[in-house]
Amino acid sequence: MKDIYSKLALIDAGQVLDAATGRGEFINIIKSNFKSYSQIIGIDNSDKSVDYAQKLFPENDIEIYKMNLEALDFQDESFDTITMANSLHHLENPDQIFFELLRVLKPGGRMILTEMYKDGAQSEAQQTHIQIHHWIANIDRLTGIFHRETYNKDEIIALFKKLKLKKTELYDYYIPVDNPKTNRNCETLIRNCNDTLTRLETIPDSAHLAEEGKSLIRRINETGCAGACRVMIIGFKS
Ligand SMILES: C[S@@+](CC[C@H](N)C(=O)[O-])C[C@H]1O[C@@H](n2cnc3c(N)ncnc32)[C@H](O)[C@@H]1O
Repeated sequence: MKDIYSKLALIDAGQVLDAATGRGEFINIIKSNFKSYSQIIGIDNSDKSVDYAQKLFPENDIEIYKMNLEALDFQDESFDTITMANSLHHLENPDQIFFELLRVLKPGGRMILTEMYKDGAQSEAQQTHIQIHHWIANIDRLTGIFHRETYNKDEIIALFKKLKLKKTELYDYYIPVDNPKTNRNCETLIRNCNDTLTRLETIPDSAHLAEEGKSLIRRINETGCAGACRVMIIGFKS
């Protein structure tokens, strides 16, 4: 993990577009770790996330807009750096979205993608994270929200390769935890599970999903949780 942050600390990012900003976790990583940036623009198509992130980042050099990644309201070649974190599996039309992202990236500009993956040798605590993710994705799909299961590592790499970027670097990493049962992320995961169980109350014939959710909460308490493995891939537009 330290290794990843030391890579980010070398980046003079210039004008940054954070695509699918959500609640802004990756903007916080940019703020705390990149060597420099001139401005960060975060975009997302969820009203709730945009509202949250706008309040979280009142600073003048960070702007958050509601926008669909499939049709970006920016001129060609506007950004020096484009980031997208933990969002690939939320994209219904990744080809169209990457077409748009490459259009607004300057020649020589940098694309940074980070994404968790589901395969490989992951600990029991990491499996908890993956299983919860898939349970929530399943429920999102039932309510009409596009949310696929997380990708395998090779699938993420293959999607990135299609962009034909230059000088690509790949980092395979995870955030180590000392004790998976006392990991502070467990609290967040339990809260997410409970929120999702509340959502399920309005979905007909979902008793089996509620049971699955309760068993996942037991799993968090018994086995603990830890962030799944991720890849960070960096490449440059010709
Ligand atoms: C897991 S969240 C983002 C996490 C965030 N990047 C972070 O680092 O914390 C995925 C986001 O993708 C957004 N999203 C999915 N499809 C989109 C689209 N076509 N245009 C804009 N945002 C989209 C969703 O609204 C959601 O907020």
